[in-house]
Amino acid sequence: MAKEILPIVNKPLVQYGVEEALEANLNEIGFVTGRGKRVIADHFDISYELEHQIAGTSKEKYLRSIRDVMAKGIFSFTRQPEMKGLGHAILTGKTLIGNEPFGVVLADDLCVPDEGHDNVLAQMVQIYKQFRCSIVAVMEVPMDEIEKYGVIAGEEMKSGLYRITDMVEKPAPEDAPSNLAIIGRYILTPDIFDIIADTPAGKNGEVQLTDALLTQAQQGCVLAYKFKGTRFDCGSVDGYVQATNYVYENLYKKGLLE
Ligand code: G1P
Repeated sequence: MAKEILPIVNKPLVQYGVEEALEANLNEIGFVTGRGKRVIADHFDISYELEHQIAGTSKEKYLRSIRDVMAKGIFSFTRQPEMKGLGHAILTGKTLIGNEPFGVVLADDLCVPDEGHDNVLAQMVQIYKQFRCSIVAVMEVPMDEIEKYGVIAGEEMKSGLYRITDMVEKPAPEDAPSNLAIIGRYILTPDIFDIIADTPAGKNGEVQLTDALLTQAQQGCVLAYKFKGTRFDCGSVDGYVQATNYVYENLYKKGLLE
């Protein structure tokens, strides 16, 4: 089944990403999905049967969080017919976005902000407002895990904010330009679409967003932001279990999760 619909405690993984975007005031949500993922579109729509069955019962309260999301967001969907890489997926979303800057959430990365901070996408929106260029979220990872990520090199402009000078998709540890790995949150300016269209397939034969962003960085500026928070890789069993435990202990048990 679509992993994005697996629950983390009491709601699907993808809903966390959508709520993060809504909280960051990005309320026009475009999904790029694929075969076998229609259930995602159905989740952000009214389920008449379910509503009818639980209306007036003690379970009606469980509808509140998804109703709230639906009231705040406008949702549109498109499909990537082939898995040709993240760059290709973003390009597929062009018709939903048009000529505007936009945020990207890779739903399998669940991000929780450090206490007292806005969510990770909202942190990045603030930086965007200042610099008006594409931004990638990065975190330090151990070198023996670096091969799973896009990796950046950059000049530190101020604490935790880098102007990117190099980027490599999934390098071997000896080729990695640093230990700063990109995670699934981006702000992109719309000129990225033409750059992606001109980007040849890279690592694993896929069109890589990392390669397109390096071109954008060389033509102008791309920033890397060491976000204030924790990221869980819910695409892996370990990350999924850790996210579940974290959300249960820190949000659910404290009554902070609807
Ligand atoms: C994608 C990106 C990679 C990034 C990662 C973050 O890879 O291509 O640069 O570090 O997401 O989760 P994927 O995990 O989809 O292979």
